[in-house]
Amino acid sequence: MPRNNKKSETTAAERDACVMQLCEQLLEIEQRLIPTGLHVFGRASELEENADLLRMVASFDRPEHGARALPKLVAEGLGIDGYDALLHETSTNEATELIDRIVSEAVRRFCEGGADAAVRWLNSNASVASEKSLATFLLLANIAEQLDSNNEIESLMRALRGEYIEPGPGADIIQNPLVLPTGRNTHAVNPYSVPSQMAFARAELTADALLRRYQEEHGRYPRALALVLWGLDNIKTQGEGVAQALHLLGVRPVRDALNRATEIEVIPLEELKRPRIDVVMTVSGIFRDLFAPTMALLDKAVRRVATLDEPLDMNYVRRNVSERMDAGASEFDDAVTRVFSNAPGNYGTNVNFMVMDSVWESDETLGDLFVTRKCFAYTRDSKGRSVEGREARHLMDHALSRVEATYQNIDSFEVGITDVDHYFEYLGGISKAVEMRAKSRPAIYLSDSLSPQTRIRSLEETVRLETRAKTLNPKWYEGMLKHGFRGVAEIENHVANTFGWSATADAVDPWIYTDIVKTFLMDEMMFKRLCELNPHSVRSLTKRLLEAHDRGYWNPDEEILEKLRDRVDSLQHQLAN
Ligand code: BEZ
Ligand code: MG
Repeated sequence: MPRNNKKSETTAAERDACVMQLCEQLLEIEQRLIPTGLHVFGRASELEENADLLRMVASFDRPEHGARALPKLVAEGLGIDGYDALLHETSTNEATELIDRIVSEAVRRFCEGGADAAVRWLNSNASVASEKSLATFLLLANIAEQLDSNNEIESLMRALRGEYIEPGPGADIIQNPLVLPTGRNTHAVNPYSVPSQMAFARAELTADALLRRYQEEHGRYPRALALVLWGLDNIKTQGEGVAQALHLLGVRPVRDALNRATEIEVIPLEELKRPRIDVVMTVSGIFRDLFAPTMALLDKAVRRVATLDEPLDMNYVRRNVSERMDAGASEFDDAVTRVFSNAPGNYGTNVNFMVMDSVWESDETLGDLFVTRKCFAYTRDSKGRSVEGREARHLMDHALSRVEATYQNIDSFEVGITDVDHYFEYLGGISKAVEMRAKSRPAIYLSDSLSPQTRIRSLEETVRLETRAKTLNPKWYEGMLKHGFRGVAEIENHVANTFGWSATADAVDPWIYTDIVKTFLMDEMMFKRLCELNPHSVRSLTKRLLEAHDRGYWNPDEEILEKLRDRVDSLQHQLAN
């Protein structure tokens, strides 16, 4: 009997843990910004459609607008101490839930009744002094007004006439509300300003969280990490991805007399309190074109770290470089090369095209294609000679063979890993290349560095979250279906991009494919609706699911397969007639 009692006690505890975990996952999905439709060029969006966006804007301090984050103001009003610390807790708690509820209601009231109504409501329901919240709501009012007007078509016409278009910064609205109004000539950044101090400070949290996560799962630090760096990401975040790479290496950027980040300062090991991690950086063609001085900075950082007189077990760059040199396999300049991109003038990995066209036979091909496209070294050798995109396939092969984890910083609230094929072509492509060269699949991580809490998720977790927040979420797909033909194409796009994560990284749970079938193809009403709007995309989507089965990513019941085959046949027939 006592044994049974113990067993039921454990089961109850396990059940509680399970319910808590479920609750956290539901909250995580709820807190995502879920796009409820596509932007239509030249058309302003409705205020209610923007409520979630405004709530996210209001979640950050905006010192440049004299506005404070609403959750912090609410926490102060309610007398809840240590709000920042609460945010960094991994599990949710009643205090943050209460704050979130109050903030959402205040933003809803703002959408309904304007700034004054929201300020009054917050004052009486959360004791937030009116003068404190007013600046935040005035900022939201300004944003709402700009979202309500749209001069994109007029700007396009002016551009076509060769007239002047006012410039504006590039980012998303949450990162920088000054991107509004749209329809301006987006400008990038001064590459010498990257990474900004703010980006460097934020990157420390992210890099630490990334290493903590790897340690929790593997009991030690990774021998080397492969990072994907994009241009637009680093424009939007003023170089957070770059700063993360520098942190992992244990160095900080130093500005010269002209305030340009061109030098490196080594963070002493006593301060760093962990080993310096080796990083292999694959930068996009856009990054290469925009950030030449930044590539030089990253290259300089690796070379500097490789020459530090430090114990090998505290400096993985030095360890990896000296092992290579000791084996007589490389000179220093080759063994230390870590910054790779496309050949000059080339862009992209083409892995996405190969996946979308279903033309690869063995997995190795996808990883090889990635390396073929990306194995061009950008460095400066020991004699100070610059190397600008020299093919260095064997150097990249070797650098990747030491990698144990791959990582990409997610920069946008609006675009996630199943929205576009570029995430799987890059992060999936490099992960497959590592898997083949290191003879073991790397741990694959993404960060959500833009939420107030720094979150590192595994790729599998991110695919699940994106699927639940978007592809299988009625709020998302009904928003897409309002756009008719294009909306169905978007759903198909998401399924194809999800498939891309199976192809490159084996990161999709089988239930995801099954639920996609149930939601879009088994439900007769939904199937009919989709076919009326866009039978071409429905056919592609169905064929993609059959391909997922053929390639072994998913093994559904025969009944489901039969249904899919029937659906393809009837669609072929419908489209042929
Ligand atoms: C970039 O910003 O570097 C980028 C954008 C889209 C696809 C790939 C890379
Ligand atoms: Mg594209």
